Amino acid sequence: MSAGFKGMDVVSIRDFSREQIEHVLKLAEKMVPIAKGEERSVLLEGHVLGSLFYEPSTRTRLSFDAAMTRLGGRVLGFDQPAGASVAKGETLADTIRMVDSYSDVIVLRHPQEGAARLAAHFASRPIINAGDGAGQHPTQTMLDLFTIRKEKKKVEGNNVVIVGDLKYGRTVHSLSEALAMFGADLTFVAPPSLQIPKEHLKQIESLGRKPRISGSLEEVIKDADVLYVTRIQKERFPDPAEYQKVAGMYRIDLPMLKDVKRDLMIMHPLPRVGEISSEVDATEHAKYFDQAFNGVPVRMALLGLILGGLK
Ligand code: NCD
Repeated sequence: MSAGFKGMDVVSIRDFSREQIEHVLKLAEKMVPIAKGEERSVLLEGHVLGSLFYEPSTRTRLSFDAAMTRLGGRVLGFDQPAGASVAKGETLADTIRMVDSYSDVIVLRHPQEGAARLAAHFASRPIINAGDGAGQHPTQTMLDLFTIRKEKKKVEGNNVVIVGDLKYGRTVHSLSEALAMFGADLTFVAPPSLQIPKEHLKQIESLGRKPRISGSLEEVIKDADVLYVTRIQKERFPDPAEYQKVAGMYRIDLPMLKDVKRDLMIMHPLPRVGEISSEVDATEHAKYFDQAFNGVPVRMALLGLILGGLK
């Protein structure tokens, strides 16, 4: 089953079959005690991960660091391009060529859509896309699926309501396609200007799913099994006035949860900036902090497969 994983680039969720993703999730299960520090591992001892973050990150960068370190590997790189030669005008291609010769695998986050694909072209080592502009975020999708499976046993058949910035939100782009592949029902809630782009809708429909499109969360929340909330991606708006029009449009608070299913799970890739009120954190619905932890075992499994320590 692991055939094809070793040395593989992870650029888009479309690069993976359902069986491959299921294999990652199964191995991630076994990684949980190591991720928690309850067991030790030297699976990736002697391996080096190059971590290049051209955009802010907390969870993605630190969970890749934690995953690599917990497996005995090392991490080098930067999280502030201002401190690297990028600030002197070095191109992405040149930076990638350098880090390619210093490490065994490269994790890249970049504001430009397509940056990971470009990096994969210049690197001989595997490239893992940790978010390319408004493009994709495939490893986030794997941890999202892991989280849903853990709570609901399976992904198939769940009604997943995705709300927020579906236009610029890269987590949604990868996740919605994967959910369609896994046979979930999808409902997209956003103002018309931030609805899911056609490209993704087409992919979802080609997988035999017919998503519901809505502007009103109140209308659809009662039937949801999973509510996936996202931040309006302020940094991607060409016009700040356009952002102001949609900022704060959706907010999950206790009154909003009055009539929801008892086992509704609420997810968010985080960071949140007001989309989920903190009073929701204490409810049984809140799964976003578990979700953030799940990034560690899932990225461990993926790194183990790509670097060849796992089969
Ligand atoms: C997301 C991202 O960077 O795309 N964060 C993450 O990786 N968990 C979501 C966001 O920034 O809104």
